[in-house]
Formats: sequence, C-alpha cells, structure tokens
Amino acid sequence: MTSAFLAHVDRDEDIEREYGPGYEDEPRAKTLARIIEENLGVHEVRILGGGSFGIAAATAEEGGDVIKLTIDASEVETGTVLTNASPESYPANVVHLQGAWYVRKLRVLGDSWFDPKTEIWHYAKHRVGLLRMERVNPLDRFGDTDVRAGLREYVAYVKHEYGLWPHVIRKISRAKARDKFLHASIALERLLMFVWEERHEQVARDIARALGQLRALGIYAVDVHGANVGWLPSSPEAEIYKVFDIGMSSVGPGAPKPTEIGRKRTDAEAYEAPVLGRPVKVAELG
Ligand SMILES: Nc1ncnc2c1ncn2[C@@H]1O[C@H](COP(=O)(O)OP(=O)(O)O)[C@@H](O)[C@H]1O
Ligand SMILES: [Mg+2]
Repeated sequence: MTSAFLAHVDRDEDIEREYGPGYEDEPRAKTLARIIEENLGVHEVRILGGGSFGIAAATAEEGGDVIKLTIDASEVETGTVLTNASPESYPANVVHLQGAWYVRKLRVLGDSWFDPKTEIWHYAKHRVGLLRMERVNPLDRFGDTDVRAGLREYVAYVKHEYGLWPHVIRKISRAKARDKFLHASIALERLLMFVWEERHEQVARDIARALGQLRALGIYAVDVHGANVGWLPSSPEAEIYKVFDIGMSSVGPGAPKPTEIGRKRTDAEAYEAPVLGRPVKVAELG
C-alpha cells in the first residue's frame, strides 16, 4: 500500500529512475509501512482505490475499517477537528474518524514548475497525512448512475462558480480561500436540497445535511461528489449516506492543530546503535 501510494503521488523522477515505478524498495515506503504497523497495529490491507491526492485501503480484520494516506493537508486538518469533536456534535452524515496525523519528517514531491527567469525547476513538497476511519459501502460504480452524475455535476458547478481549484487556492490567502469555501458549501447545500425536493433522493438530502453538520464544526467542505460518498444500513429497511473523503476543505484559524505520528523506537533498536563499543566523543549521539 505504501509503495503504491508513493508511486501514485510522488513526482520525483530521480527516485523513480532508481527504484522503478513500483517504489517497493524505496526507504520511505518501508518507513511508512512500519509507522502504520507500529502505531495502528495494521499489518495487512486491501487497497480500495485512490484519487489525485492519496490512496485508501481496508484493514484485514473482521469488521475492519479503512486507513488512508494522503498529501492533502486540508484532510488532515479537517480530520483533526473531527477526531476532537464531542460524540454529540459529531456529524451523523460523515464517516467516523478514529485518527488523523501528519507523518513525521516524511515528504513527497508534488507538482513541479519551471521558472523561465531563473531557469530553475521548483517542486512543491507535501507532508504525508495518515487517517483511520469507518468503512462504508461506496456508491455503486455501475448502479446509482443518476445519483453519481447528479452529485458530480452540482459539485463541479459549485467548484467552477467559486474558483475552487487547487492551483487557484494555493495562490490566495487562507482567509480568502476560507470565504470561498463557506459560500460554496452553502450554495451546494441548497442545490442538493433542490434535488431532494424535486426527486426525493435521500442521498442528496443526507449529503446536504453533511455539509451543514460540517459547517457547524467550522469545516467548510465541497468535494462531496459521488466517488466520495458511501452508505451504511441504518435499520433493516433504511440506509444512511455518509461522506468519507473530507479533503479539499477549510478549517478555521482556531481549529486544533494536527499532531505527528512517527516511528516508535524499540529498546532493541536503541541497543543496536552502531556506535556501541567504539570510542565516541561525549557530545556524539549514540
Ligand atoms: N471510508 C471508506 N469506506 C469505503 N471505501 C473507501 C473509504 N475511503 C476510501 N474508500 C475507497 O477508496 C477510494 C479512494 O479514496 P478517497 O478517500 O476518495 O481518495 P482521494 O482523496 O485520493 O480521492 C474511494 O473512491 C473509495 O472507493
Ligand atoms: Mg476522493
């Protein structure tokens, strides 16, 4: 999973030349795998899919959940607000988040651009986010086509109207971007409510609710297209729809800051330090 993630998002051509397109032996892939094993106790996963920012996988245990690796910082920020929310205020139409962290000291190279003045290539460096969340049933790729097409069109329309594209957001201030996200989220909620009124689609109503529930926590989200939405049975006859990808969103300046997750050093590893037995300076690290 971790090598698939890097192969998917990392744009470092030197590393690709050295390790091949699969990244299996790349040190960061191994580090990431150990971080997941040591901190989450997850040793085996099944990849569910990935978009432009990351990759998600199901844990193997019975009734297992989902772990996700992403380079979308807003998903880690939003995830942190959600994991800190009280059970009473947790949005009913968003998957339950057990944790969201930045991975310590690990970066991937994202998009690059050439500056013709200095003739230098610039690379965007991204932190890596790790999330653990409830698993839902994604909308059927082949069924649910009306619903998926409807959600996709409304989300695309709102993103277009409010200019919510990554390359635009990167260039404006956080406050300006947040204002755009707020208005886009409200507009999208209203559009989805219209769909519900006209066509009685429960999914549109539930996802509209999710946008309102998230705003109540200070999270302004818009990317609720059909491939980011799933369902769970809520009773023998009914289901509840939930958003599982809360990236491309905005949290307020007072939101709790994400914490970092990294390697846990075991006693055995400390003991096997390479300097054991040879003369060292007092200031040297052992
Ligand atoms: N909580 C989840 N439950 C079930 N499937 C999921 C979950 N999270 C992700 N997936 C699956 O993995 C795919 C990619 O995950 P997503 O979070 O949308 O990644 P990205 O941020 O790259 O778009 C989804 O389309 C979906 O099929
Ligand atoms: Mg997605």
